[in-house]
Amino acid sequence: MNKPKFENHMPRRLRRLRMTGPLRSMVRETELSANDLIYPLFIVPGSNVRKPVSSMPGVFQLSIDEVMRECNDVYSLGIPAVILFGIPELKDEIASEAYNEHGIIQRAIRTIKKEIPDLVVITDVCLCEYTSHGHCGILKDGEIANDESVELIAREALTHAEAGADMVAPSDMFDGRVRAIRTMLDENAFPNVPIMSYAAKYASAYYGPFREAAESTPQFGDRRSHQMDPGNSNEAIREVEQDIIEGADIIMVKPALPYLDVLRRIKDRFEMPTAAYNVSGEYAMIKAAAEKGWIDGERVMMETLLSIKRAGADLILTYFAKEAAAVLRGVDR
Ligand code: PBG
Ligand code: ZN
Repeated sequence: MNKPKFENHMPRRLRRLRMTGPLRSMVRETELSANDLIYPLFIVPGSNVRKPVSSMPGVFQLSIDEVMRECNDVYSLGIPAVILFGIPELKDEIASEAYNEHGIIQRAIRTIKKEIPDLVVITDVCLCEYTSHGHCGILKDGEIANDESVELIAREALTHAEAGADMVAPSDMFDGRVRAIRTMLDENAFPNVPIMSYAAKYASAYYGPFREAAESTPQFGDRRSHQMDPGNSNEAIREVEQDIIEGADIIMVKPALPYLDVLRRIKDRFEMPTAAYNVSGEYAMIKAAAEKGWIDGERVMMETLLSIKRAGADLILTYFAKEAAAVLRGVDR
């Protein structure tokens, strides 16, 4: 390789372009926008329910009427989409409420789409919030049964589409779910409902606070037979490739911060619309440190979200969405 030509020139003054705010902003390579964000919501039965999630300050379990207030805020802040998680009245062995057309999520979708038709409604598709044992699939001889679970997950996705969901997001990590959902949607007149697959989803301790919010902690065992091993990066390529082959429109890496390397590899390799989930534990850590006064919560939030975008995310699912959008509105930097 030839040596660079400018070897003998004066040392460059890289600080020149950092001297003033306007200059910094002219040469900034990555910028966060409200348009990049997706806001998760936890929906419970009843009305006037606004129950704080203790490990996630600012996050609540909400009844549908309260969800509508949130959605109005989200929409007016310029955030294009929400992703819905449901906590049903009844949980059973076969997750019946997950694919009940009058279930909590199905009703919520109808209400949101009626009142704010332009807000993109994405649904998380999994069984763990609906099973009595808290696993993402149904059990057979004490094991999580892949194919039987996938069938129910596809039915669940169909009921979401029928209720008016704009996009479905399977989060289970079972084999073949994307193809099963695509086939189910296509055969039932929903060829235009896209799938955002949780494609490289790791078995992570960072989901702890979410499981309080979604009441979905497994009663025994864990999710390591289906979610990915944290040491693996090549395997993430295979997972994502498989989901693309099966028909995924958007692929997701989850969690975000501990897997930014994976996110960058996947963005570079597939050049697909790529999402990253800034998960509950990532949110909780920042909130906790900020509450203690150990960090500047707002600045750490913005830097964190920017880092996820810089690493390759086109879309970021985050509990910070509303706060970040408000900062983007109000502040000139
Ligand atoms: C359900 C699901 C989980 C999350 C999103 N969908 C939890 C899990 O897999 O245990 C985690 C989100 C978060 O931690 O914010 N399968
Ligand atoms: Zn699950």
